[in-house]
Amino acid sequence: MRRFLSVIASGLLLAACSRTSTTDTVTISVDASRPGPVISRQLFGQFAEHLGHGIYGGVWVGPDSPIPNTRGIRNDVVAALRELKVPNVRWPGGCFGDYAHWRNGIGPKRAVTLNPDWGGVTEPNTFGTHEFMDFVEQIGAAPYISLNVGSGTPQEAADWMEYMTSALPTTLAQERAANGHAEPWQVPILGLGNESWDCGGNMTPEYYASQMKIYSRFARNYHPQQQQANKMLRIAVGPGGGEPRFAEWTETVMKAWTNRKWSWDIDGISLHHYTVIDWDKKHAATGFGAKEYAEILDATLQMEGLVTQHETIMDRYDPQRKLALAVDEWGAWYAPAAGTNPGFLVQQNSLRDAVLAALNLNIFARHAQRVRMANIAQMINVLQAMILTDNEKMLLTPTYHVFRMYVPFQDATFVPLKFNAGEWRQGSHRLPRLDAIAAKDAAGRLIVSVTNIDPEHPATLDVDVAGATPTSVVAQTLTAEKVDSINTFDAPDAVAPRSLEATLDAGHLRATLPPRSVSVFTLSP
Ligand code: AHR
Repeated sequence: MRRFLSVIASGLLLAACSRTSTTDTVTISVDASRPGPVISRQLFGQFAEHLGHGIYGGVWVGPDSPIPNTRGIRNDVVAALRELKVPNVRWPGGCFGDYAHWRNGIGPKRAVTLNPDWGGVTEPNTFGTHEFMDFVEQIGAAPYISLNVGSGTPQEAADWMEYMTSALPTTLAQERAANGHAEPWQVPILGLGNESWDCGGNMTPEYYASQMKIYSRFARNYHPQQQQANKMLRIAVGPGGGEPRFAEWTETVMKAWTNRKWSWDIDGISLHHYTVIDWDKKHAATGFGAKEYAEILDATLQMEGLVTQHETIMDRYDPQRKLALAVDEWGAWYAPAAGTNPGFLVQQNSLRDAVLAALNLNIFARHAQRVRMANIAQMINVLQAMILTDNEKMLLTPTYHVFRMYVPFQDATFVPLKFNAGEWRQGSHRLPRLDAIAAKDAAGRLIVSVTNIDPEHPATLDVDVAGATPTSVVAQTLTAEKVDSINTFDAPDAVAPRSLEATLDAGHLRATLPPRSVSVFTLSP
């Protein structure tokens, strides 16, 4: 019996050794004494469009619903989003924004209109300005209002701004009070249109630049506390890709801005980019293997080149980086889930999406001097969502967990790090094996995120920390059995963060990164 036990023991040891032998050490050097730019918390923004069940069912169930709610807004969703410290929510679109007329969404009697782009359904307008403002207040986020430049008018936009922000008793401000909100709302971020080069009116860059000036001039913010400080940021429509027409778009908008007058200005331009390989034959969100994992992650890394391309153009016109690049639509766009209205853009969310989210957030953080805002598409039940709901049921997606794990990066100061990313090959795809960012927060903690893209092999991590003397470390990792593991209403925690063993010794942080994982380490002084 003793002999039998020792054979088993050595067998286990061998198994452990063979696994260890595929685990080579990855060394990262961090110098916390050389801080870079602030990683704006606005990079962790969300996008909530009137699309499918993004709003209706996902956020809004109405005050009479048996689903627990506060003034019609789901309590479970609010509680989950509060954990993410969502900085801002972009609303009401997207392409829907160019159909949205704010007057349909105020007062006791709402017009029923159409949502032609998204499923060809009716739009009840029961979720309008007051409900949206209530929602963002409940989750502690700022409203990012996207104006209808496609089918609206400058007057309509100007009236909406007066309705929302005027403290003086104008007729519109009195109407707001009669509808239940005497105090004006602050509007910290305003979008001057959406994809005006496509669904927002298919404008030429020159035509859009003229519209941008008009909307910037007349859609004014009257809130008394936003005149000297806390000024509203105006985000103009920027590019939607890397093609020459988008380079021309950025050039034209930037050139217009350099010739700005006292009467108008902007504070940033947007960039929209989805991870899609073939728009006509989109990848499945579930039921895939290493090949599709590699294809999608390889494609998502194009974000780096796109950001660099448009930053380079912006730098020529704005070397002081006054204008932000706001990536206010990004994420993975897959084939719609079987049995759903294809226009509702319903898709599951797997471990691959968690890795994809981390890679994009890392790119934004590395470009934090210019990329000062981003909004993942979309917040609930649409595309790469944080949350999926089914009537009273709710689950948190793998992407939600990455946003939760990245909360410490909000407004932290970027810290440069050096590492050899290595390579992971799959067919013709060559990806970095590893990605990492680091930052220092206001309390002096050093936050390090390391993504192990390799779906098969763990990595031994050795972070050499200079410029700080941390005394303790806590770590979390997000991984799962397979690259396409998902959370379902029956198994909502199949992909959930768990604590990861990590040690600190003589300025070295050490841990073993699981394959296909995102890990975040918090090192405290
Ligand atoms: O997020 C879905 C759609 O994608 C948005 O409505 C539009 O702006 C983009 O094309």
